[in-house]
Amino acid sequence: MQETILVAVAWPYASGWPHLGHVAGVYLPADIFARYHRLKGNRVLMVSGSDEHGTPITVRADQEGVTPQEIADRYHEVLVSCWERLGISWDLYTRTGTPNHREVAQEMFADLFEKGYIESATTDHLFCETDERFLPDRYVEGICPNCGFDKARGDQCDNCGRPLDALELANPVCRLCGATPVVRASEHFFLRLQDFEEQLREWVESRTNWRPNVRNFTLGLLDEGLRSRPITRDISWGVPIPLDGYDEKRIYVWFEAVCGYLSASIEWAASTGDPEAWRRWWDSDGDSKPFYFLGKDNIPFHTIIWPAILMGRGGLRLPYDIPATEYLNFKGEQFSRGRNWAVWLPDYLDRHRADPLRFVLCSEMPETQDNDFSWETYQQRINTELVATYGNLVHRVLTFAAKNFNGAVPEPGELGDLERELLDQLQPAFEEVGSEIERCRFRAALKAALKLCQQANGYLNERAPWNQLKEDRAAAATTIWTAIQVIESLRRLFWPILPFSSQELGTFYGEAEVPASWAPGQIPAGRSIAGVKPLFARVDDELVEEENSRIGTVSG
Ligand code: MF3
Ligand code: ZN
Repeated sequence: MQETILVAVAWPYASGWPHLGHVAGVYLPADIFARYHRLKGNRVLMVSGSDEHGTPITVRADQEGVTPQEIADRYHEVLVSCWERLGISWDLYTRTGTPNHREVAQEMFADLFEKGYIESATTDHLFCETDERFLPDRYVEGICPNCGFDKARGDQCDNCGRPLDALELANPVCRLCGATPVVRASEHFFLRLQDFEEQLREWVESRTNWRPNVRNFTLGLLDEGLRSRPITRDISWGVPIPLDGYDEKRIYVWFEAVCGYLSASIEWAASTGDPEAWRRWWDSDGDSKPFYFLGKDNIPFHTIIWPAILMGRGGLRLPYDIPATEYLNFKGEQFSRGRNWAVWLPDYLDRHRADPLRFVLCSEMPETQDNDFSWETYQQRINTELVATYGNLVHRVLTFAAKNFNGAVPEPGELGDLERELLDQLQPAFEEVGSEIERCRFRAALKAALKLCQQANGYLNERAPWNQLKEDRAAAATTIWTAIQVIESLRRLFWPILPFSSQELGTFYGEAEVPASWAPGQIPAGRSIAGVKPLFARVDDELVEEENSRIGTVSG
């Protein structure tokens, strides 16, 4: 049965270059998942866009003395180019600055306001007397009331992941001037999360398919009890409040950005000429499965705030799964823009190919615990697995066929036991890799595909076609034919993870670039083989040294 799958991917802030941690934690898993489901024949809609609003953008604009618009435009362009070069297969990648997004977010706000789920109140907020402004979110730093971390921001603690109110911070300081802020009253709008507490708890408890860390963290927040959260800010950059008299304030970035999943789906539908098409993925009485891909710092916004907004609105589908990832660190420490401790994606893509990176980041994906990236890991994964197990297999079989069988797939003789045993592994490999991807266990999926490579290598070593050729040419033909069938299966199995090399591999023996299905395919005898090149290159020590000495010299 065809399934309807929404691949909703966290919107990156358009305030800087993405780094490898973002790729491993969010964009790569989402893309592997979407590519797989498309091959499977499911109805996939994969959307995201640049998050242009909020204090990450205005802080950077302040620092550079340019407008927030200039920052948003600059980094949106960088992000779009990265996704293209990395092969992220969006149905739509848009931005929160579009008129459509503003409208959808404002309608959502207005709808919840009319229903009484959003109410206004005048309460105390932090204000800097030196800068003569309120200090929302990233404009203030202090000690987290929950875990004691001393660099918690005004809206969230980076250490324990708790959403915060700036007033809860101990020892708050203004990030613009370092002064201690005072409190000053200001009118704001609040989302009454407490109205959804019971419904949320029942729902989260029923989501037994979620990763335990995501579910337990969310249940922990629910156990502490939900309170009203302010969803507007004293700031001039962002989506205006759709009510008269609030021109000086904007909707909080986290309220409007999550509406982006819906607004992007609507924009996508309009672009296809079928403006109602988005409903297939969103109507609550349909059977779509919305999956949300994000890093762990985004969990509360996707397991509590966005579902509460959806519940308040009604008629829209709640998330099916939220396979949030842990962090990928870099040489033992967190990737950090401030300390310029990172491998920046645009810089990587300027100098290297995407697939080796996709391979390494898939094998090191921080699915259930934090993990670590280093160039030594990169080298090792590529040389010992990607090249040694998969690339060499493809290269030696296809060059052997091209050279010894007149540049064509040879005609097989009768298949022996070894051939049948190996070919019998193909269908189960699709099932295994597929079921791992469906459960968002991408590392296990990659392992399962590599296992088939190892089986094929074992088979070739056993048959030794280079010896067979001298004694029994027909037997060598059978071996090579068999190996090519396995290679075509590997090409399909690796398609979600290694799209560029799977395309290239298809061109060596005349296969359409995008595989036809998630199943073994037959490459007929006689098909010509030409232009075979190594799919991947070994990573030598010099490259590792060069990359290590580059750390900290490029800033994103
Ligand atoms: N921009 C946020 C971040 O990078 C993520 C926003 S996800 C969205 O942490 F759903 F709100 F768009
Ligand atoms: Zn904390």
